[in-house]
Order: sequence, then C-alpha cells, then structure tokens
Amino acid sequence: RDTGFKVRSGALHAEGVALGRIAQAVGTPTYVYSASALRAAARRFREALAPIPRKSLAFAVKANSSLAVLSVLRDEGFGADIVSGGELTAALAAGMKAGDIVYSGVGKTPEELAQALRAGVGHINLEGEREGEVLAATAVRMGVEATAMLRVNPDVNAGTHAKITTGTRDSKFGVAFADAIGIFDRLSKRPGLTLRGVAVHIGSQIMELGPLESAYRRIGELVAALRARGHAITHVDLGGGLGVDYHGGSDGDVTAYGAMVAKVTQDWDVTLMFEPGRYIAAHAGVLLTRVVWVKPGEECPFVIVDAGMNDLARPALYDAWHEFAAVAPNGATMRAHVVGPVCESSDRFAAGRLINRVKEGDLAVLRDAGAYGASMASCYNSRALTAEVMVEGDRFAVIAPRIDAAAIRPQVVPDWLDAHALD
Ligand code: LLP
Repeated sequence: RDTGFKVRSGALHAEGVALGRIAQAVGTPTYVYSASALRAAARRFREALAPIPRKSLAFAVKANSSLAVLSVLRDEGFGADIVSGGELTAALAAGMKAGDIVYSGVGKTPEELAQALRAGVGHINLEGEREGEVLAATAVRMGVEATAMLRVNPDVNAGTHAKITTGTRDSKFGVAFADAIGIFDRLSKRPGLTLRGVAVHIGSQIMELGPLESAYRRIGELVAALRARGHAITHVDLGGGLGVDYHGGSDGDVTAYGAMVAKVTQDWDVTLMFEPGRYIAAHAGVLLTRVVWVKPGEECPFVIVDAGMNDLARPALYDAWHEFAAVAPNGATMRAHVVGPVCESSDRFAAGRLINRVKEGDLAVLRDAGAYGASMASCYNSRALTAEVMVEGDRFAVIAPRIDAAAIRPQVVPDWLDAHALD
C-alpha cells in the first residue's frame, strides 16, 4: 500500500515535501495529510464495490472533518455521513451536495433536525421512533418532505474494541430488531416523512467479514418482511467501512467485502449506501511532532514529544497502536516509552517499544493518524488546537491553523448579573 509517506535521501517526506520543511513553516505538533493517498484509498474502496450495481458512497466526516479532506473526497464522488449540525456545516462548506448527505446520530436535537431539513439533507437515519415523530412534525410545519431511513440494531457483535462496538443488544444505537417493523409501520403513516429503507452499522475497525455478513443477512430478512407489508424499500445503508492495519500489514480486505456484499444483497433491488471513514483516511495522515526531552526511566527512557493525548486521543482511549518513526532515521534503535506532555499517565503513545533512536529536538511522526486524529483533538491542558497541513505533489497548504485554547473558547471572569434585578 502507498500511504504517501516515504523516506527519501534520509528524510521522511509526504509525497514530494520533506516533513522537516513543514515543521519549519508551521511548527509542531501538526497533522500532515497526503491528498494522493486519500484519493488512492477512495478509489480502492470504490473499485472493490464494482460488483454492486447501485450504490452511493458517503465519507464519515467524524473520521476527518477538515474541509480540504472533504473536498478531495467530494471530487472523488463521495457524499458525507454526518452526525451533528457542525458536521453538516462542514460538509456543505466543502461543497458536498445536501442530497448526498446522510445524517446519523442517536441524539440529534429538534433544532438539528430542522437544520437538516432546511439544508435539504438527502437521508436522515432515524435512531428512534420519537425522533421520527418529531422529524415528521417539523417537516409538515416547514412544508417539506423528510426523506429518512430507520437504523436497526441487528444484535451482532462486530468483534472489535468494546468502545467502538455499536450493534449489540445493549447498544444505544438504532432501534431493536424486534421493534423495527412496528416502528416502520407507524412512522410511515406520518405525513411529512418518507421512509426509504433501513440502515445498519455494527462498529468500526472491523477486520472480519463474518459479523458484517450476519448483520447484513438479518437486514435482508427485514427488507423482505417490510416489503411483504407493502413498504417501498429503495435504499439500504450498510454503515462504515472496514478496518485498517496499524502495524504496516494488510488492511481489511475490501475486495472480499465487495464480493460478500454483492452476494448477500443480490436480490435486494435497492441502492446500497456505504459510509467509510477510517479506511479512506487513516493511512493518509501522520501527526508530526518534535522530541522535547529524552529522560531516563526505571526500565527504559521516556521520549517526551510535543504532541499529547489532546492531539491524538486514540492510544489513551482505546490502547490504539500508532507507529512512531523518526523523520530522519539513522538506522539505530532504542527501547523507550513515548509520551506526551499532558498531565495524565494515559498520555502515552508507546510503552517500552523498540523505536528509531531519537534525541532532543528531533522530529518524528505518529503514523496512520489521518482518521479520528485531528477530528478528536481537544484543548485539554489549555493546549493549542493542532494545525493541519495537506500535501499534494511538491506543494503543501496549511488547511487549519494552530489555534490557541483561549481563542477557541474565549473565557471571561464573571461580571455578575443579579437575576432578580432582571425580572
Ligand atoms: N457510520 C456510522 C453510523 C458510524 O457510527 C461510523 C463510525 C462510521 C460510519 C464510520 O466507520 P469507519 O468506516 O470509520 O469504521 N473514534 C474511534 C472510531 C469511532 C467510530 C464511530 N462510528 C477510533 O478512533 O477508533
């Protein structure tokens, strides 16, 4: 696989641009994306789905909400899978057509539903009956027709990390399989609402096709049952994409996935929708960081870098592995803990890992950080929000500047108002 990041003349480059050049211009920590790598992954995914006659692809904006990333994917023919009003704004700003947007999310507020209707969002994935009632009533009030899908929980364990499993019985997402037909019957009678089909998503970073196939077979049964009751089912949303390998091995087998989906859905006669995030963006980004100190430790030294868990939360949240590599590797290695500056022990990117030898002031990267990296960054410890850069060939652009915590959330010392004096 070509991730867009390679060592050339002793220095790690993003496409044709030395990462040292970017650090010089923008500072660290900084996310760096390769536009070509994004495009290549988008095309791999699309080609893998070639056996499927009618389909639409929507990039999961939660994986990476940078406008530059979204616009590359728009040019590749992707719509957007969104989960908030903020992501709706981002998708529209990146030039996505409202009709190509799928709105999922278990806690869309009535205001967000109205915002979606105003924008003309193509598919609203309902995650509960009450949400559908409110959506229908809002549509009637606005004089529009809402087009929606019902997200169903198939009660299948995806075999991934518990914190990113979404389709088991106790999961908050979608409606229970057993309740789906009743809810579909009732909601489809509501004026203002056209239910087009069902949606399913059982989790992220899924490497095995078995659980996906089980979930899709259940959805197939549901589609047949709904049709038998007279419902017109034109769309089925099959959820997020496959997982990737963070150790440099093979990613989820998208070709086998495409073949499995084609087989399972051959009689469905619907437009299938896909919402990949990680598969498209993960390998296309690194987090560029600088070694602040190398400090002796009990078992091995601590390599303290200037990126922290606020910049890349995945290791702290899911014990996720991101390869740590020197920007100018000299062939030597060392065993070390790689940690960030944040005041939490979970701010650790690697524990006792064999890494390229680095010293104070060296540049390094955490690889495969293009998905769920910058989009999950925060200002914890009042740290700045990380800058983002995109590279295309020999050019690079700052696509998000570094922003001081104080600028993101301006704080004021209280200027008290007497509540009763306002009556
Ligand atoms: N569609 C829905 C309804 C989703 O909930 C998700 C991800 C996706 C699509 C995209 O899934 P993907 O293709 O990326 O697997 N922050 C976690 C991942 C959370 C995923 C949440 N839902 C992580 O960093 O591993």
